[in-house]
Amino acid sequence: MRLVAFEELQSTNDEAKRLIESGERGPLWIVADRQTAGRGRLGRPWISGEGNLHASLILSGEFGPSLAPQLGFVAGVATLAALRVAAGNLGGLALKWPNDLLLERAKLGGILLEGVSGPSGFSAVVGIGLNCVSAPSGLPYPARALSEIGPAALTAEKILTPLSDVFVVSLDEWAEGAGFANIRARWLEDAAGLGETIRLGLAQGEELLGRFEGLDAGGRLILGTEAGERVLDAGDVFLAHGEVEVLGQSGRVS
Ligand code: BTN
Repeated sequence: MRLVAFEELQSTNDEAKRLIESGERGPLWIVADRQTAGRGRLGRPWISGEGNLHASLILSGEFGPSLAPQLGFVAGVATLAALRVAAGNLGGLALKWPNDLLLERAKLGGILLEGVSGPSGFSAVVGIGLNCVSAPSGLPYPARALSEIGPAALTAEKILTPLSDVFVVSLDEWAEGAGFANIRARWLEDAAGLGETIRLGLAQGEELLGRFEGLDAGGRLILGTEAGERVLDAGDVFLAHGEVEVLGQSGRVS
């Protein structure tokens, strides 16, 4: 895949959108050493220091906005596989619904998926952030960086090539949605909290408690609650152990 690299951008996803609006269709990676206005899911800021991975992939095809969210799962599976290739079977990696990457149950990175209508049709932007060198502090959940696993920790540069290579394979497997069942099965193999009681934060402060039963055919979370099964397409998962809020501060419980 092609790649353009910048020292600094507001956000690699914003640059991807700008390029799509001027006719780019991808596949194209946009990477930056640092972002001045990085964005996370649900309009949150994404705070990430220099040396971390900030990358966005522009993808276009026959798929439209309804299938594009599946690319978040493709990206999760590909990123974990790439980390394992690059770090030689690094343990403690997991995926947290919908688009988080965990290391020892603390946040290692996240995926921001956005759709853009350009002059030649719909494109998806898959934005991936990984804490390679440093993890931000002061978050309402624990975060971790790859540098904490040892001196031979992976840099953003070392991850990008395997990530791009594995992504090509995962995209083939996805086959614009026809192979989503395979991607979903792989994703579930590494799912954090599967079969456990989780807390799910919804919009407007609503919360649900239930058992994480799995994902439906479209990637929505199936939660078994006392009031019956709920199928959710957005929310924040809080695991019972490891990733918790303790009186508004980050902390770990084991
Ligand atoms: C999340 O967990 O909320 C998603 C974080 C996504 C961060 C990445 S960094 C590269 C790309 N550019 C952005 O502004 N955001 C994504």
